[in-house]
Amino acid sequence: MFVGCVKEIKNQEYRVGLIPSFVKSFVDKGHTVYIEKNAGLGSGFTDEEYVQYGAVILETAKEVWDQSDLIIKVKEPLKSEYAYFRPGLMLFTYLHLAADEELTKALLESKVNSLAYETLDVNGSLPLLKPMSEIAGRLSIQEAAKYMEKPFGGKGLLLSGLPGVKKAKVMIIGAGVAGKNAAKIAIGMGADVTILDRNISRLEQLENEFGFQIKTRYSTHSTIMELLPETDVVIGAVLIPGAKAPKLILKEDLKKMQTGSILVDIAVDQGGCFETTHPTTHLDPIFTVDGVIHYCVANMPGAVPLTSTLGLNNATLEYSLLLANYGLEEAIKQNKYLLSALNTYHGKLTNQPVAEAFGMVYEAY
Ligand SMILES: NC(=O)c1ccc[n+]([C@@H]2O[C@H](COP(=O)([O-])OP(=O)(O)OC[C@H]3O[C@@H](n4cnc5c(N)ncnc54)[C@H](O)[C@@H]3O)[C@@H](O)[C@H]2O)c1
Repeated sequence: MFVGCVKEIKNQEYRVGLIPSFVKSFVDKGHTVYIEKNAGLGSGFTDEEYVQYGAVILETAKEVWDQSDLIIKVKEPLKSEYAYFRPGLMLFTYLHLAADEELTKALLESKVNSLAYETLDVNGSLPLLKPMSEIAGRLSIQEAAKYMEKPFGGKGLLLSGLPGVKKAKVMIIGAGVAGKNAAKIAIGMGADVTILDRNISRLEQLENEFGFQIKTRYSTHSTIMELLPETDVVIGAVLIPGAKAPKLILKEDLKKMQTGSILVDIAVDQGGCFETTHPTTHLDPIFTVDGVIHYCVANMPGAVPLTSTLGLNNATLEYSLLLANYGLEEAIKQNKYLLSALNTYHGKLTNQPVAEAFGMVYEAY
């Protein structure tokens, strides 16, 4: 099979869908791998490294799209890339179709067989989304620590405190993948950590893992209000699958917080869990409302492409190799979970939530 990987063209996106050392896994199976010139540079990989592992470098994105049977990417195709769509082409990438009707229609009309990383479901877990939530959780504390520093506009507090000096108080709302990873880093940096969830068994798991280094609380608005005046950093890491994030801190609640405190809304990509949230970018990541600093970057892993590219590739390789080795239909027979990733197939919309989002017709594979 001809497998292709193009350079990401979304603003501030430095990840790459296929890393040089994994090219060898495809070449060893007899596939040809096309890489667009400079596709890996943002993640620290040169064309020479790709060639070393057996890839063929092509000058333009058009050549890669046109000559490949399977395109492995990171972000959803942008409008300028729709021109490369053609019947039967396999596309494996993050798609987030429920938020993009135009792309959904373009994939259906062009009869591309598209598989979305974020819908690949293995018994209720989303293995191709997980590494990004892990990164966002870890990064949330790193960013909060930075913006608590006085030169960055913060109140001037060190997360760990000092012997004889109090620690910063961190409240993490949501004890899932992102929340757990935020807790791990916050504990490691010596903060005083409280984690809230509505799922008691999640809280139990975290207490079993971190012992009494964390405090856990059942998540209600009144508990959040009780903790807020003493809290220096709030991490919003909630998810209700398929729904918009619930608003857990309202604008009027900010009055309870100390000036220079930090809100990091990881859930911004689901609409945000603070009323005052609006999406920001890595170029301009923070804004202040009523003296409270908000960090609401919708694509946090984009800040650390050297880490996130590897995390993503580690998670996707197994599935992209199946697609290349067997072709779409046989790959689905080999691994039934791939079917949950299939969003469009020969002009049919095969993902029910996406169909519901746009009032379109859902058709089973
Ligand atoms: N900004 C970014 O760059 C970025 C990157 C990755 C993930 N995310 C987002 O981070 C969020 C968390 O993702 P995840 O993978 O950790 O999800 P997850 O499903 O693993 O965890 C979410 C947790 O939130 C809990 N929850 C739901 N409602 C709650 C409430 N009212 N109070 C307290 N807890 C509540 C759930 O019980 C669950 O334990 C999602 O919105 C995801 O889209 C953002």
